[in-house]
Amino acid sequence: MNRRYRKTIIAGNWKMNKTATDTKKFAEELKAVMPKAKWCDVVVCVPFVNIPSAIKAFKDMRVSVGAQNVFYEKDGAYTGEVSADMLKDLGVKYVIIGHSERRQYFGETDFTVNKKVHAALEAGLHPIICVGESLEQRELGITMELIALQVKSALAGIPADKLRKCVIAYEPIWAIGTGKTATAEQAAEVCTFIRTTVRHLYGARIARSITIQYGGSMKPGNASELLAQPDIDGGLIGGAALKANDFVEIIAAANQD
Ligand code: PGA
Repeated sequence: MNRRYRKTIIAGNWKMNKTATDTKKFAEELKAVMPKAKWCDVVVCVPFVNIPSAIKAFKDMRVSVGAQNVFYEKDGAYTGEVSADMLKDLGVKYVIIGHSERRQYFGETDFTVNKKVHAALEAGLHPIICVGESLEQRELGITMELIALQVKSALAGIPADKLRKCVIAYEPIWAIGTGKTATAEQAAEVCTFIRTTVRHLYGARIARSITIQYGGSMKPGNASELLAQPDIDGGLIGGAALKANDFVEIIAAANQD
């Protein structure tokens, strides 16, 4: 973390978990244990159908609501899709784009990710852009090339003044939901590389101000060490974000001096 230059953001990614009723219950549980002063921004990315109940439930808790996906067209005949304007209108602030599960199961590509980033920014949402390598790619020694490609293609055509609204999440695929966390050194190495890539594209001032999260089995037991890395400005948390007590411990780790 480096709070002098950029925001620390702890974001939960609920994936396809919890009903609207569960959302309300979670918010009550979180409220009971949430620290009063927070040095980090807290976001909960819920399934589309839970957005209205999440907006209501988290209203007076300084917890922002995020979505887990968005379509890139403004409107039209796209059965089953949800536009950025629809999310914005509900009060959504963040949207996860290009999560590896979307790339793996729903055919998302660097090209569609880029279109979604444009659409999100145009609607005034903050995209949380996910990048990350598979185990095979890591073992082949092509992690950095792949990350550079993902970052560059996600940001293609995004003007510098909009970049401040973007968050990049480094999520090694081999660490997601597997219980295997990247070591703090591995995570820091890639997050620093992402910032360098942004610096080459947009210059030092913007690179210094962009929030870069780590995601992949982040939990209370490893959050402090990961967040102590200067280029890791928060977490995108799956499993451990489903339990209020675990989530709040990670928030507490981000709250430390
Ligand atoms: P995990 O998921 O924390 O359960 O590994 C992280 C993510 O996919 O964003």
